[in-house]
Amino acid sequence: MKDLRDKIVVVTGASGGIGKALALAFADEGCHVVVCARRKEELEKVASEVRARGRKALVVPTDVSDEEQVRAMAAETFKAFGKVDILVCNAGFGWTGPTHLMERSDWDKVFNTNFFGVIHFIRHFVPSMTRQGQGHVVIMSSIFGITCIPFGTLYASSKAALIALGECLRSELKRYHVGVTTVCPGYIESDLIARTHFKKVDEEARRLAALVTPMPVEKCTRIIIRAIKKDKGVIVITWLAKLLWYCKRLSQRLYEGILLVITLSTQRYVKE
Ligand SMILES: NC(=O)c1ccc[n+]([C@@H]2O[C@H](COP(=O)([O-])OP(=O)(O)OC[C@H]3O[C@@H](n4cnc5c(N)ncnc54)[C@H](OP(=O)(O)O)[C@@H]3O)[C@@H](O)[C@H]2O)c1
Repeated sequence: MKDLRDKIVVVTGASGGIGKALALAFADEGCHVVVCARRKEELEKVASEVRARGRKALVVPTDVSDEEQVRAMAAETFKAFGKVDILVCNAGFGWTGPTHLMERSDWDKVFNTNFFGVIHFIRHFVPSMTRQGQGHVVIMSSIFGITCIPFGTLYASSKAALIALGECLRSELKRYHVGVTTVCPGYIESDLIARTHFKKVDEEARRLAALVTPMPVEKCTRIIIRAIKKDKGVIVITWLAKLLWYCKRLSQRLYEGILLVITLSTQRYVKE
């Protein structure tokens, strides 16, 4: 999809961070934007900024983990715009905790938003794209879907599942001229770390993120928009994320050594 002008874009998790920046970047490209997340007031602010750029914006507060809300959100979107050209499944949150101490309900919370929150949107928006014979889906995974982060199993597993989903979907939707891009960022400037749920891990560990400089969110959105235009399959963002990914492919021993260093420097924060 080379020219984004006048395209209708749905962005989930658009009340802050990468989703908000993407909504504004799409407006700058000439798109009309539907913004959804749970915090209505934040969405209204984003919508005002989209309208200030001369583009249309629709606010639909939605909890992506609730399929009925997503169904209603899709109906409202199609009523307002009649179609959707680009779907960005970006909503998600972080979870940290030792794997063997996590309960089934913890897994449900993470997967219901990070994984099923994407499935719901695919079920309610992609059929219209296959019918119209064009479109693009962006799935927000993470570098931790490819490489691992000790004590980040729930988050990493949900993001790894999204990579499998994105790759299968891309092959299946090719014949309908619908592209799929799976995005695997490293550390990007946003509220993700501040809002990450810590269970049986000391809050102090949150400060470890300060050891890495995040990529400015606008740079990240420029890379994502370029990937949509070029119909890229999987993209990894930030040099550190790319380095970790290359190490994993280069040598399993080297990669496990890196994981061991991360484990040794973080396990003191675990509260058993
Ligand atoms: N920042 C990074 O370093 C990084 C790296 C790799 C991947 N990612 C991924 O990028 C995506 C965006 O995260 P971010 O960094 O921009 O973090 P963020 O600033 O915390 O934004 C997360 C967004 O997701 C929304 N959200 C969370 N749960 C939701 C739910 N149940 N229903 C609807 N919306 C929900 C939040 O809105 P409400 O609270 O208003 O609902 C918010 O708009 C996430 O999927 C994250 O895993 C981020």
